[in-house]
Amino acid sequence: MNGGSPRHDLADAELAQSGARRIGYSERSMPLLEALAHRFSVERPFDGMTIAACLHVTAETAVLARVLVAGGAQVALAASNPLSTQDDIAAALAATGDVAVFARAGVDRRTYYEHIALALGAWGASGPDLVIDDGGDLVNTLHERLPRGGAVTTGGTIPPRPPLRTGGLPVPPSPPGPLTRTPLGGCEGTTTGVLRLRRMAAEGALAFPVIAASDTPAKRLVDNTHGTGQSVIDGLLRASGILLAGKTVVVAGFGSCGTGIAECARGLGARVLITEVDPVRALDAVLRGFRVLTLHEAAPLGEVFITATGSAEVITAEHMAVMRDGAILANAGHFDVEIDVRALESLAVVTHTGVRPHTDAYELPDGRRLLLLAEGRVVNLVAAEGHPPEVMDLAFGIEALALAWLAGNAEKLVSDVHPVPPDIDAEAARLVLAGLGAEIDSLTPAQRAYLASWRLGS
Ligand code: ADE
Repeated sequence: MNGGSPRHDLADAELAQSGARRIGYSERSMPLLEALAHRFSVERPFDGMTIAACLHVTAETAVLARVLVAGGAQVALAASNPLSTQDDIAAALAATGDVAVFARAGVDRRTYYEHIALALGAWGASGPDLVIDDGGDLVNTLHERLPRGGAVTTGGTIPPRPPLRTGGLPVPPSPPGPLTRTPLGGCEGTTTGVLRLRRMAAEGALAFPVIAASDTPAKRLVDNTHGTGQSVIDGLLRASGILLAGKTVVVAGFGSCGTGIAECARGLGARVLITEVDPVRALDAVLRGFRVLTLHEAAPLGEVFITATGSAEVITAEHMAVMRDGAILANAGHFDVEIDVRALESLAVVTHTGVRPHTDAYELPDGRRLLLLAEGRVVNLVAAEGHPPEVMDLAFGIEALALAWLAGNAEKLVSDVHPVPPDIDAEAARLVLAGLGAEIDSLTPAQRAYLASWRLGS
């Protein structure tokens, strides 16, 4: 690392013990990452390489960081959301001495971007060899620092920084100037981030190859559908404390995440209404027995609203104007742009913050109250702990395998968004199945021949 030893920006280094206990607990449910740690410690795919990561700072992320370190990498980590950081995990990871950690819960936007800049600058001006991102903020910030930079903006200039609290650890260096080297490649784990990268690539602004790890069939099924489905309902229930059975829940967006949320809510007895802009997804929802309607129609009906569109300005003042008293608003999308929180703030005559942890009540002129969870940020990571370790085992397993593949192959790839090589997806699923003790069949030679031939019919 720059100057020899890792540097950090933490809320409280004293929390390391509690963090280490929680990492150990999650680790036991992450057999794929455990297997990869063993394999990587022998194969050393990242020997001598540096990896800058921008991920939610959770116990599961700590397990991934250890796998990368086992593979020979030097790792610097910044948080991918200011509210999802678990300070004890950040402290525990920093205490290992192997990872530079720049993450404190609740930091403002400026410090959030500073932390990303610090992770990118952990090795001075040469920057990292590889990056792993969750939402695209690290890749975006990195492009601003590349020699030909300026192609992409993060939406504003970063104002001057306040003094950093380091929990007794060394004060990190100032954010670096321009980077002198383009990374070999990167990996992005969210649909939102991949959409951003595709827009960059389409404009010719992407300077290195990135693997879209959110796009594999295994990841979509396990992470987007089951992981998001369960953890969003977990966040909703922790924050609101409501009984979901019998409630009318409106899910905006029926992609793989919205599908999981809708199915989980229905499983707990909610009456679920779906809003969509895509006719095929809407048809899927109808055929699964959900009622599909416009958000305008759903607004006066819903008792709970959950956005999962990846788009912006989904729930607006127009919808808030006709919502029921006590309606709960939560966002499951990566960025806090799906619910128009500014509109809610300006409609409200009084705001009661913290009526429960992660729940604010907005009182409107006509006496109705609308309840906003997690400030409109991604509710499963802010009000709960994100996906369970079993889910992140597969998601991060795919990313670790993709990064290891990239370490050896990036130079052959053009600067674009690339799919995860299909055998990596299958390998990850196979290893998870093995960990679960589930065996599957193999094709017989006759079946292989049949499937390979166009001549054989009935
Ligand atoms: N994204 C969703 N859940 C997560 C978790 N538990 N850790 C890291 N990233 C996540």
